[in-house]
Amino acid sequence: MPPRIRKAVFPVAGLGTRFLPATKTVPKEMLPIIDRPLIQYAVDEAIEAGCDTLVFITNRYKHAVADYFDKAYELEQKLERSGKLEQLELIRNVLPPGVRAVFVTQAEALGLGHAVLCAKDVIGNEPFAVLLPDDVIWNRGPGALKQMADAAEATGASVIAVQDVPRSQTASYGIVATDGFAARQGRIRAIVEKPAPEVAPSNLAVVGRYVLNPGIFELLEKTTPGAGGEIQLTDAIATLLERETVNAYRFQGTRFDCGTHLGLIEATIRYALDHEKLSDAARQLMQNALNELGVEDLA
Ligand code: G1P
Repeated sequence: MPPRIRKAVFPVAGLGTRFLPATKTVPKEMLPIIDRPLIQYAVDEAIEAGCDTLVFITNRYKHAVADYFDKAYELEQKLERSGKLEQLELIRNVLPPGVRAVFVTQAEALGLGHAVLCAKDVIGNEPFAVLLPDDVIWNRGPGALKQMADAAEATGASVIAVQDVPRSQTASYGIVATDGFAARQGRIRAIVEKPAPEVAPSNLAVVGRYVLNPGIFELLEKTTPGAGGEIQLTDAIATLLERETVNAYRFQGTRFDCGTHLGLIEATIRYALDHEKLSDAARQLMQNALNELGVEDLA
């Protein structure tokens, strides 16, 4: 039986220029949806999928991410002394017991493929996950990575999350071509990074969740700069699929591109409307806002 996926890589070295000026001091992965930073949503998804080793690829300016996952002794003591046990539990569970965080510095911003390659020594010779924290995937059932890890563990093949996007948007994504799908999976025949709509092989886009076999590292080492002058993970995957099966996976859930203003707004609305304590009030204040601005009724 193929091994279980235990390790997850989180590339968090990007500059987050779309969210300037906020990201002048706060890394984009630390922007919150309600009360949890984006990185926490990705981490929770990885832990739910069975990962116990989380590898963060950071740059030397991103102390906030490492600080966030570090133990906060003073704060814990203060909360304990003042009897704020619910809040104490929240900060202790940022990383549950038995889960370890490893930080690897990516010295130069050479691209997503290069960021993943930085995790090589920590991963070793086993399949692993990559989660891009910009992509937040909301689902009431099992998380997207859990769905994919189950599929990967059943077949031993690498698995990449995909979803349909409008053809006009292909230049923002890795785009795959498959021979079709059986249930949620289809074997990838081709993958290309950010093709223009007129040359894109389909409108099936890669979303930031991957389960990859370790053979990808050897290919990443040989990958030369591609789209945008960066070492692309997509290009190494294009070589991997000449050697072994790589499956596309249509996950169940809704993906929000929190690397954009609208994506982060949409995710915030979704999590607020689905929140056990906030949903009624959130619905009401959205209605109020629309009324006051003279926008038509939501219903
Ligand atoms: C990256 C990948 C791309 C993928 C996308 C998903 O691009 O290179 O293949 O479709 O994430 O979010 P980025 O958005 O970092 O430019």
